[in-house]
Amino acid sequence: MRIQSKPSWVIKESEVTPESVYQQRRDILKKLGITLAALPLASQAQAGLFDVLKSDEKTPDRRRVLNARESAQFHPDLSLTPEDKVLKYNNFYEFGTDKSDPARNAANFVTDPWSVEIGGMVSRPFKLNYEDIFKRYPIEERIYRLRCVEAWSMNIPWIGFPLAALLRQAQPNSNAQYVAFQTLYDPERMPGQASRRIGGGIDYPYVEGLRLDEAMNPLTLIAVGLYGKTLAPQNGAPLRLVVPWKYGFKSIKSIVKITLTDKQPPTTWNRLAPQEYGFYANVNPSVDHPRWSQASERFIGEGNLFSSRRQPTQLFNGYANEVASLYKDMDLRKFY
Ligand code: MTE
Repeated sequence: MRIQSKPSWVIKESEVTPESVYQQRRDILKKLGITLAALPLASQAQAGLFDVLKSDEKTPDRRRVLNARESAQFHPDLSLTPEDKVLKYNNFYEFGTDKSDPARNAANFVTDPWSVEIGGMVSRPFKLNYEDIFKRYPIEERIYRLRCVEAWSMNIPWIGFPLAALLRQAQPNSNAQYVAFQTLYDPERMPGQASRRIGGGIDYPYVEGLRLDEAMNPLTLIAVGLYGKTLAPQNGAPLRLVVPWKYGFKSIKSIVKITLTDKQPPTTWNRLAPQEYGFYANVNPSVDHPRWSQASERFIGEGNLFSSRRQPTQLFNGYANEVASLYKDMDLRKFY
């Protein structure tokens, strides 16, 4: 049974729990001998943000500077989430389920050498070595909004290139309709894959998928950096997907395999809790998660949790002009 492995995403209640109440709860739980790691999401996520934003913990910075030009099309004037929050408040279950775990547990994750296999229903399968990315693809900086299914959001300056450029190179054949993605599977390097307790009970490797037209959309990015440098391990080094109109769990990290297929591929959170996480996972304020509302979100900006501003969530996370046509004849409640 997967009772333990229920995703530990935040529920709405957590966002309105005042600090004193939260602290009392922690104390009571401590007395009862219950650790936060054993609790369902609400408490975990709140603890995560609270602890992370207060921590001064330094992790080694192995990131290299990347000089990417600003995207002409995707560089809006948005207030950015401070870099240290992007680096310290993460979901990367291969390195633990607490928001503060990935920065700590992935600090020594080795991502060099790295390669990605592109194959399946394509005329030209190939293996892409990480270094070649910088010679082959148009790398640029794009500012995207990231909306997590847990109802928080960040604005992040990513550096990357369109997934479409890579897919075109592989030449998908006419039967290909979907793209499947897979994260590295290496329990020795990813402690969450070696322990159900650390890794939240996920059946690894982490997998994700997109319809081919979603994958080819110009917004869909393979990110190799953020804030002017290569990705930190906790953000999915050395390369990850970023699909800004979908909930953050679609943006799979540390990819090693990309496969074109004619069948809708399995996806990690859908396998774990299908009634909560669909294949499409388009950001939609009028389709609630079964356990909480998706109508608004807490923007993680300057300041701490309690000063962060709540804002209404936008359909397709604000990218409706770019992507609404992909779903024009679909019932978005059914295909959530
Ligand atoms: N990719 C892998 N392999 N493992 C994960 O646990 N978490 C997802 C996504 N990609 C995850 C993953 C979730 S739930 C979110 S919200 C984003 O990564 C978070 O990205 P960030 O930590 O860089 O903000």
